[in-house]
Amino acid sequence: MSREGPIRTDIRSNARTREPVAKGDWGCLLSDALLITTRPRYAGFRVGEWSIGAVPLGCARWVRGPLAAAAECRWALVEVGARRPGPEGVVMVERPRVVVSVGASVDGKVALTRDSLLMRKPSSELWAAMTPRAADPVAVDILDVVRQQYGCNAILEGSGSLVAESDVPEELPAYDGDTAELYEHFLPTDITELPSPPLMWFTVVDSRGRVRWTEDNENWAALVLVARSTPAAYLAYLRREHICYLVVGEARVDLPQAIAAMASALGIRCVLSTAGGGLNGALLRAGLIDELYLTLAPALIGGLGTPSVMDGPPLAEGEAATSLQLLSVNTDTNGSVRLHYAVADR
Ligand SMILES: NC(=O)c1ccc[n+]([C@@H]2O[C@H](COP(=O)([O-])OP(=O)(O)OC[C@H]3O[C@@H](n4cnc5c(N)ncnc54)[C@H](OP(=O)(O)O)[C@@H]3O)[C@@H](O)[C@H]2O)c1
Repeated sequence: MSREGPIRTDIRSNARTREPVAKGDWGCLLSDALLITTRPRYAGFRVGEWSIGAVPLGCARWVRGPLAAAAECRWALVEVGARRPGPEGVVMVERPRVVVSVGASVDGKVALTRDSLLMRKPSSELWAAMTPRAADPVAVDILDVVRQQYGCNAILEGSGSLVAESDVPEELPAYDGDTAELYEHFLPTDITELPSPPLMWFTVVDSRGRVRWTEDNENWAALVLVARSTPAAYLAYLRREHICYLVVGEARVDLPQAIAAMASALGIRCVLSTAGGGLNGALLRAGLIDELYLTLAPALIGGLGTPSVMDGPPLAEGEAATSLQLLSVNTDTNGSVRLHYAVADR
């Protein structure tokens, strides 16, 4: 694809003709630019080298109606883009790279049972015992790897890593003020202006407001991804605790929008998901995964319903699997394996 802006031309012609965006296309409305790509995988941020186009606000207004009306098209609203100028005024926005790192048994389970958290005993000890000590261990600090490689400065977790479904979180006081401002992003500058890195973001998807934040770490700032459905009492609690949050989505967190907002609002360039199967499965379905590190312990767990590497909704009838390209394999003398894959181009 040439650098001379055919994509931009396409977008303009789409805007002029008011044709609905085709099913599977993404449109991303920035504050002053509309971005459209035809490849859902990139969530409106990059297709090949030149898939992002932007048009001035006037054009964005022209297409806002048709985009919103195109019920079948997949699109996301994004706030302000982390923008850099492209040629001829084309604005480029790249979504952060998403790398998933999971530890699993050979049968792909990421926990021992549906409702036991790995960070709690006895699961933590039983899980550690699945990996025999080896003189040549395959385990590496993946965060360190992606920090070096991509400048990764954010971890992503689901609430399921921190709170079991059967847990009843501590009740929060009702909020009796005006709730409107609670549903704005909460990004206090005394946190967001800290240099990052070294500051890292510990991001948790939590539209139901289940996580209670009880620990501080001076090198990590918590960032909660919430939705318009999140209880006001929880957002008020986050504000009282001075914990950053982004409101991204309606009924639950809209993951493409969330990942985009992490770039646009906080300049995050790469996200390492260390989540369980629920969130990773949702990232997979949203076409947001770029790379996977899978570290297998020489053990079998079994059990229908036990969280696995990728859960979430099943494929639609006739929908193809996501192809992977193997980047590396490491094994140790005691039977653990580390696999590194990139998601193949679709
Ligand atoms: N072995 C490992 O490497 C590893 C790593 C992490 C966790 N684990 C274990 O895995 C288990 C937890 O796994 P899990 O699958 O229950 O939890 P999970 O991966 O945390 O999945 C649930 C989270 O994903 C969000 N989510 C799910 N589908 C979504 C969608 N379509 N759109 C937006 N958000 C969506 C949920 O959001 P809402 O809050 O809005 O519902 C919730 O925050 C625990 O036992 C944990 O210890 C293992």
